[in-house]
Amino acid sequence: MTDKPLSSTTLGILGVGYFASYFIAGLRKGGFEGQILLSPRNAETASKLAKTHNGSIAATNQEVIDRSDIVLLSVKPEHLRALLTELVFRDDQTIISAIAGISVENHHKAGRLPKTLIRMIPVCCIAAGEGVVPIYPANKTVETIARFAGAPVVFNSEEEFDLSLAASCMNGWLYELFGSMAQWLENKGLPPETARALVLHNVRGATGYALLKGSEDLTSITNGIATEGTYTLKGLDVLKEQQGITAWDKALDEVHANLTKDNEKTCI
Ligand SMILES: NC(=O)c1ccc[n+]([C@@H]2O[C@H](COP(=O)([O-])OP(=O)(O)OC[C@H]3O[C@@H](n4cnc5c(N)ncnc54)[C@H](OP(=O)(O)O)[C@@H]3O)[C@@H](O)[C@H]2O)c1
Repeated sequence: MTDKPLSSTTLGILGVGYFASYFIAGLRKGGFEGQILLSPRNAETASKLAKTHNGSIAATNQEVIDRSDIVLLSVKPEHLRALLTELVFRDDQTIISAIAGISVENHHKAGRLPKTLIRMIPVCCIAAGEGVVPIYPANKTVETIARFAGAPVVFNSEEEFDLSLAASCMNGWLYELFGSMAQWLENKGLPPETARALVLHNVRGATGYALLKGSEDLTSITNGIATEGTYTLKGLDVLKEQQGITAWDKALDEVHANLTKDNEKTCI
């Protein structure tokens, strides 16, 4: 990619769905002023995004490529090969892929792509300007763009990157947990908005406090709170008895095993 200032860079997007919607929202919220050029497929979402976030819609996928400096691939994994059929990229283009479960090597096996292909898979909280943006391999331009939407974290190997993806799934599970705790409070008589605020601000407070503690071991924060005779310890004991903590490790194991397996597939 040429050394253009970001404000005159065009980011093209192939695959205009959920991922593209929250990534674009995060970029614009963070002050990204470059052009955003969308694939015409999924016309309703493309039109909404173009209006809300000052983007434009190309006539074809090839036009997205021809007019862009950087191209984001955000189609579902099973659609990658079909997407790449008949598309021609320039060798100087930087490709960012948000597609989970496909290694850099297997992206190149799926079709003819430029050499610079960077995997970048943040989760939906970037729409709020919060959260990490996992990146592999390192690329200064992609890191700069990612910084508009969240905190870029660059991994040294694809194996490490896969671990970050397993941790990203945890982000999705958390809403289920929050919802269940809020529902319990509601069932006991709290108004829904109070229950929601209690859960969300408690969680936000917990992460804020842990970040304030710097490198302190995270479980030692709980140990400092859940001391002998406290209600916190009573509840924690129940959670441990019910495998309420180890169940999360099992879920992470499951995701990680599947991500690794998918990455190893030679055809997509
Ligand atoms: N959603 C998330 O939270 C999330 C998080 C991290 C990573 N990702 C990754 O992001 C990718 C997209 O996920 P998503 O949830 O955003 O899926 P999605 O909402 O289904 O969006 C994918 C879009 O790609 C379009 N598409 C398919 N084939 C195309 C083609 N040949 N040309 C142009 N557009 C095409 C689809 O159009 P049609 O609807 O017409 O098929 C759809 O609008 C996945 O690979 C996923 O691993 C998603």
